[in-house]
Amino acid sequence: MSNYHIKHLEEYFQVYRKSVRNPEAFWEEIAEEHFVWRKRWDNVLSWDFKKPEIKWFEGAKLNITENCLDRHLPTRGTKTAIIFEPNNPKEEAIHITYRQLHERVCRMANVLLDHGVKKGDRVCIYLPMIPELAVALLACARIGAIHSVVFAGFSSNALSTRINDSDCKMVITSDGSFRGTKSIDLKGIVDKALEECPGVENVLVVKRTGSEIYMEAGRDKWLQPLLDEAYADCVAEIMDAEDPLFILYTSGSTGTPKGMVHTTAGYMVYTAYTFKNVFQYTENDVYWCTADIGWITGHSYIVYGPLANGATTLMFEGVPSYPDFGRFWDVIQKHKVNQFYTAPTAIRALAKENLEYVEKHDLSSLKVLGSVGEPINEEAWHWYNNNIGKKNSPIVDTWWQTETGGIMITPIPYVTPTAPTYATLPFIGIQPALMDENAKELKGNQVEGRLCIKFPWPAIARTIWGNHDRYRDTYFSAYENMYFTGDGALRDAVGYYRITGRVDDVIIVSGHNLGTAPIEDSINEHPAVAESAIVGFPHDVKGNALYGFVILKETGESRDRENLRKEINQQITEHIGPIAKLDKIQFVSGLPKTRSGKIMRRILRKIASNDTSNLGDTSTLLNPEIVQEIMDNAL
Ligand code: PRX
Repeated sequence: MSNYHIKHLEEYFQVYRKSVRNPEAFWEEIAEEHFVWRKRWDNVLSWDFKKPEIKWFEGAKLNITENCLDRHLPTRGTKTAIIFEPNNPKEEAIHITYRQLHERVCRMANVLLDHGVKKGDRVCIYLPMIPELAVALLACARIGAIHSVVFAGFSSNALSTRINDSDCKMVITSDGSFRGTKSIDLKGIVDKALEECPGVENVLVVKRTGSEIYMEAGRDKWLQPLLDEAYADCVAEIMDAEDPLFILYTSGSTGTPKGMVHTTAGYMVYTAYTFKNVFQYTENDVYWCTADIGWITGHSYIVYGPLANGATTLMFEGVPSYPDFGRFWDVIQKHKVNQFYTAPTAIRALAKENLEYVEKHDLSSLKVLGSVGEPINEEAWHWYNNNIGKKNSPIVDTWWQTETGGIMITPIPYVTPTAPTYATLPFIGIQPALMDENAKELKGNQVEGRLCIKFPWPAIARTIWGNHDRYRDTYFSAYENMYFTGDGALRDAVGYYRITGRVDDVIIVSGHNLGTAPIEDSINEHPAVAESAIVGFPHDVKGNALYGFVILKETGESRDRENLRKEINQQITEHIGPIAKLDKIQFVSGLPKTRSGKIMRRILRKIASNDTSNLGDTSTLLNPEIVQEIMDNAL
């Protein structure tokens, strides 16, 4: 059916029109023709952005793993589902066929069942990028357990917060992980986290590094012997369309991380359909997304989207700089990768290295290049286009979010003409709106405002785990009857969208979403610190880096500043993870505040960005004199 695979620009416009004129009929047709259901839905869509409540394919019964695995067995049983490329290039890559993946998922699902995990229970997965990670997600989905993957770069503190927020009863982890020349003690991090998590009954441990680890009797078990003994088939739990599939945490501008809840049927339909079109995947292609499965990109476009299409998806355990800066290009050559999906921060880092790393590799297999996670600047876009795509592989700059579940604004390669720094046009079924400061929609082209979405799409997150009010307040209260993204965007003369960045206190560093509040809380816990404020400033590799303004307590005044900086960053590493470390820390005697006591971050942002020509009106500040002092001592 042509609607499932769009091949021409005219077809895009035609299908797009159809999808917004009658969304129910459109998505019903996609769902009907391309997925297997145990029972058909009673109703395609019901929604109310005020409550908010969104239901897709209500009444339908299915299991997503039957769509990702079982249904492929007759035709793709011997096809490679996952290629595993280990950290060390000398270790052999592993090809896992659909049949083998099915068996591995069933075995792990049976182990979970044997340990008392039931439908609806939450399982925390804290694993490196090894095949067991993908298997663990699918094993949970097989039995209807809700997975909550925590990125294995997060600290024990961040891990325990997430485990407790969603009451996980089990953790699946490994003895350690390999990252370039480093080996990281993951199990040690889990042990520390679990001191704060009384609800966790079982810890299943994958052996990866072989390092000596502590195993708590009665709680911790090696996974492999259990898998070896488990039965190789497992009947899939029949799920309702709107049963939760997973929780994934994302940072908010304030407070604790938000456990975004994605449900089964809509998420499956949307991630599969976007994957097929945004990467123009055809049957024998090898697709590689370099994200970690700990983020939404990995959930949707390493695991569920590709597998639902019977694709071959590559999982890479390592880092782009090991054994040298040619590793990505080496992997593309070795596995003849056709679609390559990565982040601007990686492109910028690799563009700084000698071009020989690229040139000595054969990249002629590439057909599509993707970018995600942050705006891609013009220079990086051209470097990617010229040197990796050789001007022959369209770049899809895909804008989306943890909350949206799947890609929202993007070119379709070989269909939509691309333009540097533009995510271009809304994907099928997506109805964006730009809003002005008075909450009025900006119609027509050549406008810039806050990006909202007017109509539900199948993969929108349905709630925040345990806090529906926060879900409503964060996404549905700023503009009536709209989902508010938190991003700014412009629409140019031809209707192309460019995402201009966050308009709230979320800062995107190397493509990672970081909220200012948890970082500030962590700094403020240092005994020498009285108060702090974090802002982002432009960084040529990371996109943004963090600048901290810190007020010391009297007791801290006599301390060595360099040591304090180290201690503050150490503290952040322990509380959140190394990704949240500050690049610059300036000690100040006060922070610019409004009369109601709110920190004026706008001013701090300008100072941090060395852009102080137009600070705006500072006369309304409680303490305008502080601005000059901070400017004089800026780093
Ligand atoms: O600000 C946007 C930015 O990343 C945010 C979402 O982050 P997260 O939930 O971690 O998901 C990242 C992967 C989907 C967005 O609100 N962002 C993501 N993609 C782009 C982007 N900004 C500009 N261009 C993009 N292509």
